[in-house]
Amino acid sequence: MSEKKEQKPSISRRRFLTYSIASTAGFLASGVLYPMVRFAIDPLLQKGSDTKFVDVGPADEFGPQPKSVEFHIQRKDGWYKKPGGEKATAWVMKTGSDILALSPICKHLGCTVKWEGGGHKDHYYCPCHGGLYTKDGTNVPGTPPNAPLDMYETKVENGRLMLGAVKPRGGA
Ligand code: FES
Repeated sequence: MSEKKEQKPSISRRRFLTYSIASTAGFLASGVLYPMVRFAIDPLLQKGSDTKFVDVGPADEFGPQPKSVEFHIQRKDGWYKKPGGEKATAWVMKTGSDILALSPICKHLGCTVKWEGGGHKDHYYCPCHGGLYTKDGTNVPGTPPNAPLDMYETKVENGRLMLGAVKPRGGA
Protein backbone atom coordinates (compact mmCIF):
# COMPACT_ATOMS: atom_id res chain seq x y z
CA MET A 1 0.00 0.00 0.00
CA SER A 2 1.49 3.21 -1.08
CA GLU A 3 0.93 6.23 0.98
CA LYS A 4 0.64 9.42 -0.90
CA LYS A 5 2.54 12.06 0.91
CA GLU A 6 0.90 15.44 0.71
CA GLN A 7 3.39 18.13 -0.10
CA LYS A 8 3.17 21.25 1.99
CA PRO A 9 3.65 24.54 0.14
CA SER A 10 6.86 26.29 1.12
CA ILE A 11 4.93 29.42 1.95
CA SER A 12 1.52 29.52 3.53
CA ARG A 13 -1.37 31.31 1.91
CA ARG A 14 -1.63 33.68 4.86
CA ARG A 15 2.03 34.62 4.66
CA PHE A 16 1.82 35.07 0.89
CA LEU A 17 -1.12 37.46 1.30
CA THR A 18 0.68 39.39 4.03
CA TYR A 19 3.77 39.85 1.82
CA SER A 20 1.67 40.84 -1.18
CA ILE A 21 -0.31 43.45 0.76
CA ALA A 22 2.82 44.83 2.43
CA SER A 23 4.73 45.19 -0.84
CA THR A 24 1.74 46.76 -2.61
CA ALA A 25 1.28 49.23 0.27
CA GLY A 26 5.00 50.05 0.22
CA PHE A 27 4.91 50.63 -3.53
CA LEU A 28 1.88 52.93 -3.26
CA ALA A 29 3.35 54.81 -0.29
CA SER A 30 6.61 55.45 -2.14
CA GLY A 31 4.62 56.85 -5.07
CA VAL A 32 2.98 59.34 -2.70
CA LEU A 33 6.00 60.11 -0.51
CA TYR A 34 8.65 60.56 -3.20
CA PRO A 35 7.07 63.68 -4.79
CA MET A 36 6.41 65.13 -1.32
CA VAL A 37 10.02 64.68 -0.20
CA ARG A 38 11.36 65.91 -3.55
CA PHE A 39 9.12 68.99 -3.32
CA ALA A 40 10.25 69.69 0.25
CA ILE A 41 13.98 69.59 -0.51
CA ASP A 42 13.91 70.95 -4.06
CA PRO A 43 15.63 74.30 -3.27
CA LEU A 44 18.47 72.38 -1.61
CA LEU A 45 19.10 70.56 -4.87
CA GLN A 46 19.41 73.78 -6.84
CA LYS A 47 22.99 74.93 -7.26
CA GLY A 48 24.03 78.51 -6.31
CA SER A 49 21.15 80.42 -7.91
CA ASP A 50 21.97 83.39 -5.63
CA THR A 51 25.60 83.71 -6.62
CA LYS A 52 25.28 84.72 -10.28
CA PHE A 53 26.97 87.95 -11.27
CA VAL A 54 24.94 90.72 -12.86
CA ASP A 55 26.29 93.27 -15.33
CA VAL A 56 25.64 96.79 -13.99
CA GLY A 57 27.46 98.81 -16.64
CA PRO A 58 30.88 99.95 -17.79
CA ALA A 59 33.38 99.90 -14.89
CA ASP A 60 34.86 103.27 -15.92
CA GLU A 61 31.50 104.95 -15.25
CA PHE A 62 32.31 104.77 -11.56
CA GLY A 63 34.64 107.01 -9.60
CA PRO A 64 35.53 108.01 -6.04
CA GLN A 65 32.05 109.43 -5.38
CA PRO A 66 29.48 106.72 -4.50
CA LYS A 67 26.96 106.25 -7.29
CA SER A 68 23.68 104.38 -7.01
CA VAL A 69 22.99 101.59 -9.53
CA GLU A 70 19.79 99.64 -9.97
CA PHE A 71 19.74 96.18 -11.45
CA HIS A 72 17.67 93.00 -11.46
CA ILE A 73 18.72 89.70 -10.00
CA GLN A 74 17.20 86.36 -10.80
CA ARG A 75 16.52 84.83 -7.43
CA LYS A 76 14.31 81.97 -6.40
CA ASP A 77 12.43 82.43 -3.15
CA GLY A 78 11.69 78.84 -2.28
CA TRP A 79 9.78 77.76 -5.37
CA TYR A 80 8.82 81.23 -6.51
CA LYS A 81 10.83 83.06 -9.15
CA LYS A 82 9.66 86.60 -9.83
CA PRO A 83 9.22 87.22 -13.55
CA GLY A 84 11.83 89.72 -14.75
CA GLY A 85 13.85 89.31 -11.58
CA GLU A 86 14.03 91.20 -8.33
CA LYS A 87 15.06 94.85 -8.22
CA ALA A 88 18.23 95.56 -6.27
CA THR A 89 20.36 98.62 -5.62
CA ALA A 90 24.01 99.17 -4.78
CA TRP A 91 26.16 102.17 -3.95
CA VAL A 92 29.29 101.77 -6.04
CA MET A 93 32.59 103.66 -5.85
CA LYS A 94 35.89 103.10 -7.60
CA THR A 95 39.26 104.29 -6.37
CA GLY A 96 41.98 103.32 -8.83
CA SER A 97 41.28 99.69 -9.55
CA ASP A 98 39.51 99.10 -6.22
CA ILE A 99 35.77 98.82 -6.48
CA LEU A 100 33.45 98.88 -3.51
CA ALA A 101 29.76 98.09 -3.96
CA LEU A 102 27.68 98.53 -0.83
CA SER A 103 24.20 97.33 -0.05
CA PRO A 104 21.88 100.25 0.76
CA ILE A 105 20.10 98.26 3.47
CA CYS A 106 20.70 99.75 6.89
CA LYS A 107 22.09 97.30 9.43
CA HIS A 108 19.89 98.68 12.19
CA LEU A 109 16.36 97.82 11.08
CA GLY A 110 16.61 97.57 7.31
CA CYS A 111 15.69 101.01 5.98
CA THR A 112 17.45 102.35 2.89
CA VAL A 113 20.52 104.51 3.30
CA LYS A 114 21.42 107.35 0.96
CA TRP A 115 24.78 108.89 0.20
CA GLU A 116 24.89 112.37 1.75
CA GLY A 117 21.21 112.05 2.60
CA GLY A 118 19.75 114.59 5.03
CA GLY A 119 22.67 116.94 4.34
CA HIS A 120 25.21 114.62 6.01
CA LYS A 121 28.30 115.33 3.93
CA ASP A 122 30.62 112.41 3.17
CA HIS A 123 28.36 109.92 4.91
CA TYR A 124 25.60 107.49 4.15
CA TYR A 125 22.53 108.49 6.10
CA CYS A 126 19.59 106.38 7.19
CA PRO A 127 16.51 108.55 7.69
CA CYS A 128 14.64 106.09 9.90
CA HIS A 129 16.62 106.55 13.12
CA GLY A 130 19.50 108.77 12.06
CA GLY A 131 22.03 106.03 11.28
CA LEU A 132 25.33 107.13 9.75
CA TYR A 133 28.04 105.26 7.86
CA THR A 134 31.36 106.48 6.51
CA LYS A 135 32.20 106.33 2.80
CA ASP A 136 33.50 102.77 3.05
CA GLY A 137 30.28 101.67 4.73
CA THR A 138 31.58 101.56 8.30
CA ASN A 139 28.90 102.38 10.85
CA VAL A 140 29.55 105.53 12.87
CA PRO A 141 29.70 104.80 16.63
CA GLY A 142 26.97 106.46 18.63
CA THR A 143 24.37 106.00 15.86
CA PRO A 144 21.92 103.08 15.85
CA PRO A 145 23.56 100.67 13.32
CA ASN A 146 25.94 98.23 14.98
CA ALA A 147 27.56 96.79 11.85
CA PRO A 148 28.99 98.07 8.56
CA LEU A 149 26.91 97.98 5.39
CA ASP A 150 27.02 94.66 3.53
CA MET A 151 29.17 94.45 0.40
CA TYR A 152 28.44 92.93 -2.99
CA GLU A 153 31.03 90.67 -4.55
CA THR A 154 32.49 92.47 -7.55
CA LYS A 155 34.48 91.62 -10.66
CA VAL A 156 35.26 93.35 -13.94
CA GLU A 157 34.86 91.42 -17.18
CA ASN A 158 35.58 93.01 -20.55
CA GLY A 159 35.38 96.45 -18.94
CA ARG A 160 31.96 95.74 -17.43
CA LEU A 161 31.32 95.80 -13.70
CA MET A 162 29.63 92.68 -12.42
CA LEU A 163 27.99 92.41 -9.00
CA GLY A 164 27.51 89.09 -7.24
CA ALA A 165 26.20 87.96 -3.88
CA VAL A 166 25.87 90.29 -0.90
CA LYS A 167 28.24 89.46 1.92
CA PRO A 168 27.92 90.73 5.50
CA ARG A 169 31.09 92.15 7.03
CA GLY A 170 30.34 91.40 10.67
CA GLY A 171 29.90 93.76 13.61
CA ALA A 172 32.09 96.76 14.28
S1 FES B 1 16.89 101.50 10.31
FE1 FES B 1 18.61 102.72 9.84
S2 FES B 1 19.01 103.74 11.65
FE2 FES B 1 17.33 102.52 12.14
